[in-house]
Amino acid sequence: MIQLKDIVVKFDDFEALHSINVHVREGEFFTFLGPSGCGKTTTLRTITGFIEPVSGTVHMQGEDITHVPIEQRNIGIVFQSYALFPTMTVHDNIAFGLKIKKLKKPEIEEKVKTIARKVDLSDEQLAKAVSQLSGGQQQRVAIARALVTEPAIICMDEPLSNLDAKLRVQLRNELKKMQREFGITTIYVTHDQEEALTLSDRIAVFNKGYIEQIGTPNEIYNHSKTEFVANFIGDINPLGAGVVQGLKLPADGHHFVRLERVRVNRPQEADEFQARGVIQSREYYGLYIKYYIEAAGQTVKVIEKNDGINIYEPGDSVTVGIHPQDVMSY
Ligand SMILES: Nc1ncnc2c1ncn2[C@@H]1O[C@H](COP(=O)(O)OP(=O)(O)O)[C@@H](O)[C@H]1O
Ligand SMILES: [Mg+2]
Repeated sequence: MIQLKDIVVKFDDFEALHSINVHVREGEFFTFLGPSGCGKTTTLRTITGFIEPVSGTVHMQGEDITHVPIEQRNIGIVFQSYALFPTMTVHDNIAFGLKIKKLKKPEIEEKVKTIARKVDLSDEQLAKAVSQLSGGQQQRVAIARALVTEPAIICMDEPLSNLDAKLRVQLRNELKKMQREFGITTIYVTHDQEEALTLSDRIAVFNKGYIEQIGTPNEIYNHSKTEFVANFIGDINPLGAGVVQGLKLPADGHHFVRLERVRVNRPQEADEFQARGVIQSREYYGLYIKYYIEAAGQTVKVIEKNDGINIYEPGDSVTVGIHPQDVMSY
């Protein structure tokens, strides 16, 4: 559907993207994930046509669009700041792209109505000025405006990051539902790992202008290819000499285990390394509890499901167990 081949982007002497290769498939929800400044927006802007790469190509449905102007690319765009016209009505904001395309009035009315219904905007809201709507509603308008021209693909750059936490989760779920319903190929940019994991069919993890790994949420999380990916997508314990020796791991590697994979006070299983430890402190999250345990000469962070029964206090003596197959080595 969309294919980037060996894309290099420079801003004067600064190389922001070093040979980016991505192939987004038809109908896919594909996310660019990474910390601030790693090149997500630059890659997206190369796809939409705001930036021309110094080398490499962009193909869309098999056709080379590297030098095709933005307005001929048939791509819908949703930004972090909604980039709506605040004094115009919601209706006119959504209709804007259709007017530019010189569609006839009845056709515009029909399309605006249909899309408004799909993104849950009422007739009453359509008549309001955009500035009268809440942030979440404004972002819904921005999404409607991007979808109404029936683009082949939609690109969203951190569309939820200006919203408060609760609304972000709510709109995230709606976004996913909408994407499934429309079946539209979506490229989504975020620095939020939870957003990436919950929304995406596949994720590309960016770091300093490179892609470190492309994979499904499960591949990225459970089979992180690099230490950077393992660390960025979730919390990990670096394993010290005590555990490394206990598990007979190569001493020259870097070894890690995820917090929820460490077992507390469970019967020892085959291959498992166990060590006695003492709870140093804990953080109570409700759904789960995070413990800091001094064991095997290091602090081991552990996440335990809150079952309401096995809850440990600082000073409690416990056993921690780690399976060799849960260790990620780099
Ligand atoms: N127009 C620009 N001029 C100069 N440097 C830029 C420009 N846009 C982005 N950069 C730089 O390119 C790098 C990648 O930026 P960006 O793609 O915006 O990162 P992200 O979206 O992942 O936060 C950063 O170091 C940023 O400072
Ligand atoms: Mg950005």
